[in-house]
Amino acid sequence: MNSFEINKIVAAVIVTVLIVFGIGKISDVIFYKDSNVVAYKVEAPEGSSVQTSTESSVDMSTFLAMGDVSTGEKQFKKCKACHSINKDGRNNIGPKLWNVMFRPVGSITDYKYSKALSSYKKEWNWEEMNGFLIKPAKWIKGNKMGFAGLKDEKERASVILYLNQNSDNPKELP
Ligand code: HEC
Repeated sequence: MNSFEINKIVAAVIVTVLIVFGIGKISDVIFYKDSNVVAYKVEAPEGSSVQTSTESSVDMSTFLAMGDVSTGEKQFKKCKACHSINKDGRNNIGPKLWNVMFRPVGSITDYKYSKALSSYKKEWNWEEMNGFLIKPAKWIKGNKMGFAGLKDEKERASVILYLNQNSDNPKELP
């Protein structure tokens, strides 16, 4: 065996290693993408209809228990630029939010909603409000609320409790 042949063998080994390593990488990427798709499907809003009502109310009570009204009041500063919350508050850039929990979506008569909201035909129950506030643009496509969302669970639960509190008739927590 001369040194030229040894070189060829070494080269072949290196190429093999590269190929094996390369395939590993590629399948990593494919696997990663796949798992992303699955994760997305699970958290998609449409999926929530799959849950039974008992399941989701158990989840909601655990979720809402993370919040407290005074944190909600502080967090609501993020909403105040566009929304009033007091009983005698007015519409602003966004509709007035007194009594918003459990009223039909898009139902303030002297506020001009987007079509997305006025034709949504649901009420602001715990699940809807939670889903909406995570990422408004994703939950009701085409709505015009210019707010990115509240990712933090405690902050979001707190704001929902605060909204519930600012009502003629605060609802009992699930
Ligand atoms: C930059 C302005 C802006 C901010 C900030 C904002 N909103 Fe809004 N919000 C709007 C607008 C505009 C609408 C009406 C959307 C439409 O008609 O599509 C709206 C609609 C809503 C609705 C629907 C009310 C109804 O009558 O159906 C809720 C609930 C709401 N906002 C809650 C919040 C909360 C809670 C926050 C803070 C965490 C917040 N918004 C922050 C502008 C804002």
